[in-house]
Amino acid sequence: MKVIVTKNYEEMSARAFEIMKEVVVSNPKAVLGLATGSTPIGLYDCMAEDHQKNGTSYKDIRTVNLDEYLGIGIESDQSYVYFMRKYLFSRVDIDLANTNLPNGKAEDPEAECARYNALLKTLPQDIQLLGIGSNGHIGFNEPGTPFDSVTHVVALAESTIRDNARLFEDPNDVPKKALSMGIANILDAKKVLILASGANKAKAVYGMVKAEPDVNCPASALQNHPDVIVIVDEAAASLL
Ligand code: PGA
Repeated sequence: MKVIVTKNYEEMSARAFEIMKEVVVSNPKAVLGLATGSTPIGLYDCMAEDHQKNGTSYKDIRTVNLDEYLGIGIESDQSYVYFMRKYLFSRVDIDLANTNLPNGKAEDPEAECARYNALLKTLPQDIQLLGIGSNGHIGFNEPGTPFDSVTHVVALAESTIRDNARLFEDPNDVPKKALSMGIANILDAKKVLILASGANKAKAVYGMVKAEPDVNCPASALQNHPDVIVIVDEAAASLL
């Protein structure tokens, strides 16, 4: 694991962008594993700005996202498909047909997980971008998720529902379930880029980087991956 500590969120985003751009420029057909949440927004802003200013093209780039809430889709501004279109896909020249997320509206969620696993086999990630939950989750792989897990239906942890309530008008509206890539699907990526900002992530970052790998901190599974770059701001790095 290579750990880079930055002064603040803006610097974290700029460093992450350098790595992401290198992947996109060196392989215009790269598969990007993407993430939602507050953490990657600064990186997506850099990608959009660079596309507009320098013409970096995403027209043949393929994407696979980590997760989606169960029961909502593009019609909801809380869905992750809506988030991706708003913060990235509508701001670069990507072909939406090349973008993939689990379908939160699938009638048969188990069949949807099987479809997504099969899709991931055909689209191995050249890079997988991750945030980290305050409880150490990656994707929606909550504490206790086996490291060999693949895409599955998740009952969100109470702490995740609490963390995400800030984004909903009524905290009771936070979905209780999601579809998420498993930890094994994440570890299949050629390169992993994980970002964290803020003091509320410090304990999870410590568990990921310094503690023995343990299912109670899902991000610690990344210690078993040969190419992981961790970019954290000073607040998130405070326990390292
Ligand atoms: P955040 O979420 O970027 O909104 O903090 C990260 C995560 O839960 O993985």
